[in-house]
Amino acid sequence: MEKIIDESIQGQALSLNKKEGNGRKLFIESYGCQMNFSDSEIVASILSKEGFNTTQNLEEADLVLVNTCSIREKAEQTVRKRLEKYNAVKRINPSMKVGVLGCMAERLKSKFLEEEKIVDLVVGPDAYKDLPNLIEEVDAGRNAVNVILSKEETYGDISPVRLQSNGVSAFVSITRGCDNMCTFCVVPFTRGRERSRDPQSILEEIDDLASKNFKEITLLGQNVDSYLWYGGGLKKDFEKASDFQKATAVNFAKLLDMVAEKYPKIRLRFTTSNPQDMTIDVIEVMAKHKNICKYIHLPIQSGSDRILKEMNRLHTRQEYFSLIDNIKRLIPDCAISQDIITGFPTETEEDHQDTLSLMEYVKYEYGFMFAYSERPGTLAERKLEDDVPEATKKRRLNEIITAQRAHSTYRHEAFIGKTVEILIEKESKKSDAHWSGRNTQNIVAVFPKGDYKIGDFVMVRIDECTSATLLGEAVGYSDNN
Ligand code: 5AD
Ligand code: SF4
Repeated sequence: MEKIIDESIQGQALSLNKKEGNGRKLFIESYGCQMNFSDSEIVASILSKEGFNTTQNLEEADLVLVNTCSIREKAEQTVRKRLEKYNAVKRINPSMKVGVLGCMAERLKSKFLEEEKIVDLVVGPDAYKDLPNLIEEVDAGRNAVNVILSKEETYGDISPVRLQSNGVSAFVSITRGCDNMCTFCVVPFTRGRERSRDPQSILEEIDDLASKNFKEITLLGQNVDSYLWYGGGLKKDFEKASDFQKATAVNFAKLLDMVAEKYPKIRLRFTTSNPQDMTIDVIEVMAKHKNICKYIHLPIQSGSDRILKEMNRLHTRQEYFSLIDNIKRLIPDCAISQDIITGFPTETEEDHQDTLSLMEYVKYEYGFMFAYSERPGTLAERKLEDDVPEATKKRRLNEIITAQRAHSTYRHEAFIGKTVEILIEKESKKSDAHWSGRNTQNIVAVFPKGDYKIGDFVMVRIDECTSATLLGEAVGYSDNN
């Protein structure tokens, strides 16, 4: 009898521990795109309900989670290197458990457990709500895997724990997955079908951020322009929706308009836009609202029509130019940035010149440029030989980077002598006497601190620039404070 009472008391104590702080420490780190960083905030929220507290100190962690990226081979190698580091820590702290989340988890599935002995737990991007059960399995000494992709999961009901936040800018995810099937890209396989989040839950999350005094919100999705809410369901089934659902559907332009209207003091950004899905209404909504930042990340990947076709990008070079022209017509000061891949299979010198001439036309403010990296399971890997030599890929990449640097400098020089609004985000990396923030075009500006503080909107006169940064002096608060 005594024994039973003892056990029940102990059981109660354990369950209290579990829900109200089990004293366990979670170390979570993220690689890859913003979506991964945003997902880690969802994971931290799910685990905080299980009593986990986050720590920045790997050595004291009970559970280490790494949110991984598969986009290029190098991204995967970086994660493998990190696992080596965890291995070294585990020698000192043998009870530490290690879990792999995100795109690599989804791509490699249980193979991860065989390839990396340090790994106890493998969880794909749609399975984070199952983490409490999976951790129980691991606690019981078994490895645990859940990589089931979902057609519905948006985590709309979870309030993210803001990790390493500056208290000024935050990400809010609005869509998950991607249906575009670009032939080079692993994302449709690792993140599954595209689905949109209920606008109500998006507004609730922004309400919460506004009440906490956040000043800038970036709406996130692999393809934001494809956002479509008609009460749930995949985009491809929209045709079958009822007349009421169709009449009350919310697309990206509407969502952006709603958010901008409701929060006039909050700066809004969004990423990523796919040229084939971006509509003129989105550009019009951007032009209409002062608080929507005048910046569009608009990946092109290649300037050659033939390569665009091989990549299954469903637009031509000319259609891209028309989109750029429309953006510049409606928002003359809109900044545009690119993603470009060099050395996609079959790319010739002429194709490469087409990319350079396209860049010359657009003169992007900024760019993210990569050498093609063949990804297992993608359409390109199955159908095309990776036939451009590494040295050629690298040489073309360097030419693209040189062109981009010149264009960034050209765009930045246009700001010299102008006074622009900057939202202060952090101390400058190079000097503790300077603040760093961005203007509406997403260009970083650095200036002496004065009496200003993080989160202030200030007017900064630009005196100098580099290809990466504007340098200037604050001349007063902006009227947005
Ligand atoms: N190789 C190189 N770059 C890639 N990207 C996506 N897949 C690959 C790949 N296999 C780049 C694209 C994309 C960005 C997120 O990463 O430019 O827009
Ligand atoms: Fe990397 Fe793409 Fe996955 Fe983001 S969605 S983590 S960029 S593979």
